[in-house]
Amino acid sequence: MEKKNIDWANIGFGYVKTDKRYVSNYKDGKWDDGILTEDDTVVISECAGVLQYAQTCFEGLKAYTTEKGQVVCFRPDLNASRMKDSTQRLEMPLFPEDRFVDAVVQTVKANMAYVPPYGSGATLYIRPYMFGSSPVIGVKPAEEYQFRVFTTPVGPYFKGGAKPITIKVSDFDRAAPHGTGHIKAGLNYAMSLHAIVTAHEEGFAENMYLDPGTRTKVEETGGANFIFITKDNKLVTPKSGSILPSITRRSIVHVAKEYLGMEVEEREVLFSEVKDFAECGLCGTAAVISPVGKIVDHGNEICLPSGMDDMGPVTKKLYDTLTGIQMGRIEAPEGWIKVIE
Ligand code: PLP
Ligand code: COI
Repeated sequence: MEKKNIDWANIGFGYVKTDKRYVSNYKDGKWDDGILTEDDTVVISECAGVLQYAQTCFEGLKAYTTEKGQVVCFRPDLNASRMKDSTQRLEMPLFPEDRFVDAVVQTVKANMAYVPPYGSGATLYIRPYMFGSSPVIGVKPAEEYQFRVFTTPVGPYFKGGAKPITIKVSDFDRAAPHGTGHIKAGLNYAMSLHAIVTAHEEGFAENMYLDPGTRTKVEETGGANFIFITKDNKLVTPKSGSILPSITRRSIVHVAKEYLGMEVEEREVLFSEVKDFAECGLCGTAAVISPVGKIVDHGNEICLPSGMDDMGPVTKKLYDTLTGIQMGRIEAPEGWIKVIE
C-alpha cells in the first residue's frame, strides 16, 4: 500500500481529512448495517438533540505501524466498553461492542495510506462518536442517532513532543460531583474550553483540575489523567469518580506492576502532596505520556525535581515500555493488540 505524501515527522495534533469514514444510523429502535463513505459531511435537523442539548459522546484510540510492519490498534475493546458507559449515562442507544471494534477496523483498513510508517513519530488517530440526530425541543433524549468513525494522522499532542510542559491549577471545574466527568461526553470538553483558552493565553500548556467538591484533590487535565512518581519510585495516580477512566492510565498501572515491578498506589491525591513528588506526567491516547516539569498554583511554582529538559527517568521507563508494547517491540499482555493488517 502506497502511503500518502505527508511529512509524518512534523505533523501536529490536527485534523487531516482521510479517504473514508464509517457511518451507521439508528432509527425505529435499531442500527442499520453501517457503510464506509467518502462523504465527510453530516446533514441533520436544525433541532437535532446534539445541537440543542449536547447529546453526544466520543472515543479516541490510535492505529500504529509496528516494528514488523503490521498495522495494529491498542485495546479497542476498552474504548467500546467505555462508549457503552457514556451512552448509558447520556440516554443514548448502545452501539454493540463487537460492531464498534469492527467499525474501527473497517475504517483503519479503508485509510491504510494514512497510517504513518513505523518510527515516524506519528500515528493514525481514530475518533468514534455518536450523536442525537433527530429533532428535540423539550428536554429529552433524541429518537434517532448517528454513529461515525473517522481517522486523522497525528503527531504529538503537545508542541515539543517529549519536552516537559508547564501547567496551571485551574480556577474552573471540568466536571461536577455526581456529574459526567467519568464518561467521554462532549459537554465535558465544552466546559473546559474557556479554561484551556485562558491557560494558553497565560502561557500554560494545560490545566490541572482539582476535585469540584472540595478543591483539595488532584483530578485530571482537560484531555489526560495524571501519573506521579514518588521519590522512592512508586507510581501514584489519582482515583476519583469524576475523572475519565483512561485506558492509557490503566495500561500504565499494569506495565508498572507487571513489567517494571513497581509499587502502585491508585488513590485520592491531595494537591498538598504534589510538591513532594519526583516526577509528574499526563497520560492518554493523545498525550501518550507527556512529562510535566512545573505546576503553577496562583503564582506559587512547584518545580518537579525531574526538571524542564527531559522526561524523568521512571516516566521514561514507563513511556518506553508502553510505546514498546504499542509498536510491537515488547510482547504485549494477552488481548491488548488488535491486528488490523
Ligand atoms: N482524561 C480525559 C479528560 C480525556 O479526554 C482523555 C482522552 O481520552 C483521557 C483522560 C485519557 O484517556 P485514554 O487513555 O483512554 O485515552
Ligand atoms: C484522547 O486522548 O483520545 C482524547 O480524546 C483527548 C483529547 C484531548 C484529544
